[in-house]
Amino acid sequence: MPAITATAPGKVILFGEHAVVYGRPAIAVPVNQVRARVVISADPHSAPGRVLVRAPDVGLEAELGELPEKHPLAQAILGTLKAFGLERMPACAVRISSTIPVAAGLGSGAAVSVALIRATATFLGQRLPAERVSALAYEVDKLYHGTPSGIDNTVIAYGLPVYFIRGQPIELLKLPVPFTIVIGDTGIQSPTAIAVGDLRRLWQEDPGRYEALFDAVGVIAQAARRSIESGKPDELGPLMNENQVLLAKMGISCPELDRLVAAALSAGALGAKLSGGGRGGNMIALVRSEAAASVAQALERSGAIRTISTSVRLRAQ
Ligand code: PMV
Repeated sequence: MPAITATAPGKVILFGEHAVVYGRPAIAVPVNQVRARVVISADPHSAPGRVLVRAPDVGLEAELGELPEKHPLAQAILGTLKAFGLERMPACAVRISSTIPVAAGLGSGAAVSVALIRATATFLGQRLPAERVSALAYEVDKLYHGTPSGIDNTVIAYGLPVYFIRGQPIELLKLPVPFTIVIGDTGIQSPTAIAVGDLRRLWQEDPGRYEALFDAVGVIAQAARRSIESGKPDELGPLMNENQVLLAKMGISCPELDRLVAAALSAGALGAKLSGGGRGGNMIALVRSEAAASVAQALERSGAIRTISTSVRLRAQ
């Protein structure tokens, strides 16, 4: 049996991170330049159930049975088996790799889960629609951070731009006019769970203030959807700037993100904001395609350790 390969893209949140945890809408798009990849090869010489899991990027090499049941990789494989009413895998070797930076707001955890779930299903001779892949990846994401909204697993499992409201059926965005964003990485690893937990404490102390901020973010996400779907992506620039001001008021930005946002705007970006969990990780800037290289250079001069320019469109190119 030939080896099975499955991949999944990274993602950025264009609008609505954090407020999405509290039921407001958010918009996320896949980033196809970075991907998680899983290869599963049958091992006909070993006993059924023997699964060797290797993730050299994080120095992991273990038998599936040795991993704690709550380990995200174990959970992805075991959850998929269970979805088909199976108890164990045929003997195999699972190799996991990823070019998606970790703890940077680019969805690395969800992308590994989605690729692993897909590869496992295919290896078992089964097919899983995106909706079920997404639901299984959501269960794994809960292990990383207790109250995920579900936006990461959704945009990554579908691999398409989404308008997302927690607990509601997914809405894929119409996108008549593609647009370009430059992603800049502060290089600061910032676990989403910490920022989400801190914000929850602040919200509990002063719900009125934070509900008003979340409402304002939700209005921006709705306006952004209209701009995207009516083919006027330039209008997203000012909306990104407004969203960034609100995120800063929530305590989710940091000096390094502020510096990159300012650098992008001075270099001619139409708008810029942090993306994802915040306090580090990545920011995004909306640019005219011809300005992508100069904005990326400005970000690098201001401390970005990596930049990615990506065209947001309905299909990967
Ligand atoms: O995985 P990240 O860092 O892109 O963050 C996800 C977005 C949050 O809104 C901060 C959390 C969530 O569960 O939606």
